[in-house]
Amino acid sequence: MILVTGGTGYVGAQVVLQLLAHGQTVVIFDNLCNSSRASLERIARLGGRRARFVLGDVRNRAQLDALFADFPIAAVIHCAGLKAVGESVREPLRYYDSNVGGSIALCQAMAAAGVFTLIFSSSATVYGDCATMPIDETCATGLPTNPYGFSKLMAENVMISLAASDARWSVGLLRYFNPIGAHESGELGEAPAQVPNNLLPYLLQVASGRRDVLQVFGNDYATPDGTGVRDYVHVMDLAEGHWRALQALLGGSGVRVWNLGTGRGYSVLEVVDAFTRTCGVPIALTFEPRRTGDVAQCWADPGKARRELGWQARRSLDDMLRDAWRWECRLAAEHRPIVYTTETSPTIPVAAAQAASGYAAV
Ligand code: WQD
Repeated sequence: MILVTGGTGYVGAQVVLQLLAHGQTVVIFDNLCNSSRASLERIARLGGRRARFVLGDVRNRAQLDALFADFPIAAVIHCAGLKAVGESVREPLRYYDSNVGGSIALCQAMAAAGVFTLIFSSSATVYGDCATMPIDETCATGLPTNPYGFSKLMAENVMISLAASDARWSVGLLRYFNPIGAHESGELGEAPAQVPNNLLPYLLQVASGRRDVLQVFGNDYATPDGTGVRDYVHVMDLAEGHWRALQALLGGSGVRVWNLGTGRGYSVLEVVDAFTRTCGVPIALTFEPRRTGDVAQCWADPGKARRELGWQARRSLDDMLRDAWRWECRLAAEHRPIVYTTETSPTIPVAAAQAASGYAAV
């Protein structure tokens, strides 16, 4: 049985689907702080069977000990954590408590239960403001530019020290670049509980009419069009990377690091243009000053994951945007019935968007 902490969240839910698709039994441990039980129903519908669910918080050692006592857990995929850069600047203690304190409590409970195979949901933000592109795993982890990035780097170092102290540990650090997109069915995706921090969820809410205008943070970077460049990777490709990494870790020892990105960077304006071209919806935008903590550019050299895991991202930016828009149309219909004309969303039939209005609450 595989434990997925944060398994009802944006990435975690897709990872659970991947595990179910490969015949694994799964238990999800989640405090539902940024997701809901609706994800469990969606996972069951898409996965064809249920994952077990335990409501709890990775910072609670007693709950973790009970979890390992109740289930025959063989390995852990640790996705539970907070991930909004801007929020981490405003609430650093909450981020260190959740992302570092939670990781420490989880590792303690794992060791006490004799479970030593761990995949950690890390982030490219641990590289900080890298001078050279693309970024490979030999690049020094720099000075992250925000508490979120620091919390991921600190948690990585906890696991690296742990594995150095005890050869029974087999740890995979997966450094995500920019996960976007949704399940191709349109049935499962990101549903930010607050105002979205990230580019794509905000852009989607502008497209669906839930927000007025996209603020582009900075158009004076040393990039081709002056806006920030990022390596966007489909969340389903990312989930497949977790399955490949788990296979590589089983029976192993030590720490292994893999960048999960496409190896291609796109600027903010390129993403906006691609969305309008692919989904047929124009995006109103304004140019604003740079956002504190942002770097100009960040994209991966994904060669190591390809060589060692046989993994590479298969889905294009257009695929990511189309899948994300399909999901947003469902979400938007839940929030208020919008009558989509065929002009505004030719790729999403009116009936599909309106049928979603009866969809279970997120
Ligand atoms: C991308 C680009 C912004 C919003 C995050 C975090 C973390 C990670 C995903 C997993 C930048 C610009 C954004 C907006 C904009 N998750 N932007 N207007 O900051 O690269 O990193 O990625 O690890 O959540 O590390 O992602 O989507 O916030 O920003 O212009 O309203 O879009 O300036 O250039 P980021 P992002």
